[in-house]
Amino acid sequence: MRILLVGGGGREHAIAWKLKQSARVSQLFCAPGNAGIASLATCIPIKATDLDALVRFASSEAIDLVFVAPDDPLALGLVDRLEAAGIRAFGPRRNAAVLESSKAFAKDLMRRYRIPTAAYQVFDDAGAALAYVDGAELPLVVKADGLALGKGVVIAHDREEARAAVRDMMLNNRFGQAGLKLVIESCLSGPELTLLAFTDGRTILPMVTSRDHKRACDNDQGLNTGGMGAVAPGADLDEPAWRQLRETILQPTVDAMRAEGRPFKGVLYFGLMLTREGPKVIEYNARFGDPEAQVVLPLLETDLLDIVEAILDERLNQLAIRWKAGAACCVVAASGGYPAAYQTGYPIHGLDQVPSDCLVFHAGTRREDETILTHGGRVLGVTALGPTVGEAVTRAYEALGAISFQDMHFRRDIGRPV
Ligand code: AMP
Ligand code: GLY
Repeated sequence: MRILLVGGGGREHAIAWKLKQSARVSQLFCAPGNAGIASLATCIPIKATDLDALVRFASSEAIDLVFVAPDDPLALGLVDRLEAAGIRAFGPRRNAAVLESSKAFAKDLMRRYRIPTAAYQVFDDAGAALAYVDGAELPLVVKADGLALGKGVVIAHDREEARAAVRDMMLNNRFGQAGLKLVIESCLSGPELTLLAFTDGRTILPMVTSRDHKRACDNDQGLNTGGMGAVAPGADLDEPAWRQLRETILQPTVDAMRAEGRPFKGVLYFGLMLTREGPKVIEYNARFGDPEAQVVLPLLETDLLDIVEAILDERLNQLAIRWKAGAACCVVAASGGYPAAYQTGYPIHGLDQVPSDCLVFHAGTRREDETILTHGGRVLGVTALGPTVGEAVTRAYEALGAISFQDMHFRRDIGRPV
C-alpha cells in the first residue's frame, strides 16, 4: 500500500517507524516530515494545514491511505476532504475532532452523558466571565475554548490571576479566535494519566497507559509545553480500575459521540486525573499524544496498519491487540528558551553514538548537506525500552548523554514517580 502520513514531529516519526514495519506498506510519504522521518519516508514539502495541496498530492500519487496525525488538519476537516475525493483516511472527521478543538463542546458532552469531569461554566462574554471569577471558589482553571498548542490553560490561585487570564484571552486576543470563548472550571487534584485508545466509533480498545511531563523544567516548574518527556506504563492499574475506566469514561464517550451523530474513528486521547472520587477527564484529544506516542508505539506488538484498517472497516471488535511486556521512556531534547523564544539552526552532535537499541525520534530537525540541524522548540525525543520504567528511564538518559547541540535543554526528572 502507498501511504501518506500527515505531520512532521516526534509523534509522526514514531508513527512512521511503526508503519514501516508492516510488510504491506510498499511506499511511505510524509508531509512535511523532518530530517529523521526522511530516513523512513519520502518527505513532501506540503504543510499539514494545506488541505488543498494534500488532497491533490494524495489523488495524483494514487495514495491508498492517508494517516492524519496532528490536531490542526483534523479540526480543519482533512479527513472529510480526502473521503470526498474517494481517498481512505485515518482519523476522526471534523464533526468528531471537535471533541478536541472545542473544550466547551467536550464539557457539554460530558455533562449531558454524565462522564466524570471537573464542574465548569462556559463564557463568551468577558463581563460575565469576570463576574463569575469574583464569586467562584479558588483555585480556578481558565481555559481557552479552541486549540492553543497546550498553552491555553491557566490555573489561577487568586482572583487577580484569574481575571488577568480572562482579560488576556477574551479582550487581548492572546490565542486569537481560540480564546473568544472560555471554559472556567474547578481545580481537581491527583496524579495525571494519559490513556490513548483505538476506536472505530463503537468498540474502544485502550493502549498501554502513559504519563507526560508538560512543564518546561524539573519538579513541574516553568511554562506548560507540548510535553517534555513521557513514560509508559503511566500507572499500575488493577482490573477493577480498568473496569471503572471502561464503564464510566471510555465506552460512554464513544457511545455519546455516536449518539450525537458524530461517530469517532481513530485514536482518542483521554487526559485523566485520578482523583479521590475516581478518575475524571481533564481533556480529550482527537489523536495520538506527543510525546506519548513515542513511548506507546514502541511497546505495540501488533501491526499498526492492521489496526488502522480494522478501524476504517469498523471491525475493531474482531481484533486482539498485543503489547510488549516492559516499559518505555522518552526524554525530549528541546531548544533552550522553548516554549517561549528560542534559536534554531544549530548542528546536532552525537546522533551516531546512540546505542542501537534506543530510538531517536526527530521532532524539529532539518538536514543541510550531511548535517542535521535544530529546527524547532522540541528537537528530539530519545526513547529507550526496559523491563521496568526505572530501567527505561536510566537507558534513555544514557542515550541522551551522547547527544548535544547549542542551548540544548531537557528535564532530568522524566519518569520520577508522583
Ligand atoms: P489541558 O490542556 O486541558 O490538558 O490542561 C493542561 C494541564 O492543566 C493539564 O495537564 C493539567 O495539569 C492542568 N489542568 C487542566 N484542567 C485542570 C483542572 N480542572 N484541575 C487541575 N488541573 C487541571
Ligand atoms: N502531550 C500532550 C498532547 O499531545 O496533547
